[in-house]
Amino acid sequence: MRKLALATIALSLLAAPSLAGPKEDAIAARQGHYKLLGANMGALSAMAKGQIDYDAKTAQMHADNLATLSKNNIGFLFLEGTSSSDMPGVTRASAKIWEDFPGVGAAGAKFAEAAMTIQAEAGKGAAELGKALGMVGMSCKGCHDSYRTK
Ligand code: HEC
Repeated sequence: MRKLALATIALSLLAAPSLAGPKEDAIAARQGHYKLLGANMGALSAMAKGQIDYDAKTAQMHADNLATLSKNNIGFLFLEGTSSSDMPGVTRASAKIWEDFPGVGAAGAKFAEAAMTIQAEAGKGAAELGKALGMVGMSCKGCHDSYRTK
């Protein structure tokens, strides 16, 4: 009997997923998406600010990445019960997202439009990059102001 109980425990441990569940996984995935946006934006703003020399090829690569990322539909990662009110300290996704999907969609569309613009402009020169970058930055901020908690 005892042996059987131990074997059962061992099996259930094997079958158990990692500590993180589907909610944590979805949050990590969407945060990864935003981290990639941030990494590409960071490189572009360093260039626009003159902290690193403007290089058309590199600027184009980052702008292409932003455009590609803007086409990812990450809506499926916003599972019920994964707002910052449900899981404080784990996520900064505001509960407002779940009350206003059309609004979030519109904010996402603005970002996608800005990403298309920077893709067309980034390789033309530092001034063009700077202008388009401002537009992208406003679109990030627009969504964060409404749908991301502090
Ligand atoms: C349509 C809404 C929306 C747009 C557009 C948007 N974000 Fe966010 N962003 C969010 C939300 C919501 C979170 C919080 C995600 C979470 O914690 O689950 C977030 C989180 C982040 C984070 C923190 C990720 C982490 O490590 O947890 C960074 C960095 C970020 N965004 C950068 C950007 C940049 C740069 C842009 C524009 C190029 C952008 N975001 C556009 C909604 C948006």
